[in-house]
Amino acid sequence: MTETRTGAKRPRPTRASSSRRVAYDVIAAVRESDAYANLLLPVRLAEAGLDAADSALATELTYGTLRGLGRYDRVIEIAAGRPTHKIDAEVLDVLRLGVHQLLSTRIPPHAAVDEAVQLTLALGRRSASGFVNGVLRSIARKPAEEWFADTLNGLTGDARLAMEHAHPRWIVEAFRAALGAEDRADELDELLHADNLPPAVSLVALPGLAEPAEVGRAGGVSPVAVRSPGGDPRSVPLVASGRVRVQDEGSQLAALALTRARPVRAGERWLDLCAGPGGKAALLAAEALRGDAELVANELVPARAGLVRNALSVFDAPPIVLEGDGTRFGSGTDAEAPGRYDRILLDAPCTGLGALRRRPEARWRKQRSDVAELAPLQSGLLDAAIAALAPGGLIAYVTCSPHLAETRDTVAAALERHPALRVVDTPAVLSQIATSELELPPGPAVQLWPHRHGTDAMFIQLLTTLES
Ligand SMILES: C[S@@+](CC[C@H](N)C(=O)[O-])C[C@H]1O[C@@H](n2cnc3c(N)ncnc32)[C@H](O)[C@@H]1O
Repeated sequence: MTETRTGAKRPRPTRASSSRRVAYDVIAAVRESDAYANLLLPVRLAEAGLDAADSALATELTYGTLRGLGRYDRVIEIAAGRPTHKIDAEVLDVLRLGVHQLLSTRIPPHAAVDEAVQLTLALGRRSASGFVNGVLRSIARKPAEEWFADTLNGLTGDARLAMEHAHPRWIVEAFRAALGAEDRADELDELLHADNLPPAVSLVALPGLAEPAEVGRAGGVSPVAVRSPGGDPRSVPLVASGRVRVQDEGSQLAALALTRARPVRAGERWLDLCAGPGGKAALLAAEALRGDAELVANELVPARAGLVRNALSVFDAPPIVLEGDGTRFGSGTDAEAPGRYDRILLDAPCTGLGALRRRPEARWRKQRSDVAELAPLQSGLLDAAIAALAPGGLIAYVTCSPHLAETRDTVAAALERHPALRVVDTPAVLSQIATSELELPPGPAVQLWPHRHGTDAMFIQLLTTLES
């Protein structure tokens, strides 16, 4: 037993309840202060000193609860007989964590309910403990399939798919449109399912600094990918030294599309216009070193520019990292001068709808209006990249979103504004680079998908200009 400040005795937390407490704290911080679960969770796990098994449980509970929020809230509404906005926010988070355990894990129901009640008491919400107990007990009385069927009552079409796969409806509609543009709208169900599965951890062996075989088995599609040997990747010495990095294979292909689309001439100048936190910049820098090219990285947010410098510190002569608005390129002097760069990566700020697997809360936080707000910035950065490009050079316009307004439409509008701009057949380029067959519909752009390629949903369009 431990003493509280008031001298009352309360049970010492068990190891399992510590996992739940960590999960609760992260879920509450996501709601209260817009925390990012993927950043906060490792900090909380380290503070709590949980062992590997308890850390895995806390991670599953945090990610699973946050991903399933929309669906779990509907179950709670039905069981509690009131809308979730009429339930105290802290108590609602306890219920969400409990519902996830009851409906989506093999945790014994009595343990899930008892731990939820204990958590309610630990939060000082004694008066709500009976409510939590009652709601969760009534949910525990019916199998998960019946509850999930109840949530679908009266729903049809995309609204039904949205509830079934715990995605906001506008995102389902955006995915339908993007798959439809490839005549693959029938894959929507598969895509939404894939979005709810934890992604495999993939690593990149930076060319010239490490070989994939030094770490483990080769990856699925990228020639520089390695499958994580399991456990915490940072315990791999080559990862700790920065020569091997955690990076989705889709991101690797996006960087390689730019660097390997054509042979590199010694002395080429390359630019990574929006480089933070530096994952692709590190791969570009390794490729530049091998080809005797020179890379400049730029990032608007100073803290993120710091992360880029850190990512590049593995090189003996790290590339220059500039801080500032990328839209200034192509209109200044020196590093910002017009026509200066032979290859430019524009990994544009975007909604990130293609990486929902990694950021469990993101789908509920993003708004339809974010898409329209980002469009002028994406176009402004693309205009700057075009201005900074040497005649006949290459741009890779990349987003980790498949939303057509951020991908195809942005490129189409740029082609209208810049008569000398041309698309490059990007599927043809990537087919040459990939180590296994990439199932890609005809171009000119590449849209990767979690369900089809096992990568984040990266969009890649190579562009060039006419040599005058
Ligand atoms: C998609 S992320 C880039 C990811 C990066 N390429 C990587 O692989 O690690 C987009 C970046 O653009 C930055 N950004 C946003 N607005 C910008 C601007 N006007 N100029 C330059 N960078 C900008 C963001 O801070 C963010 O770091």
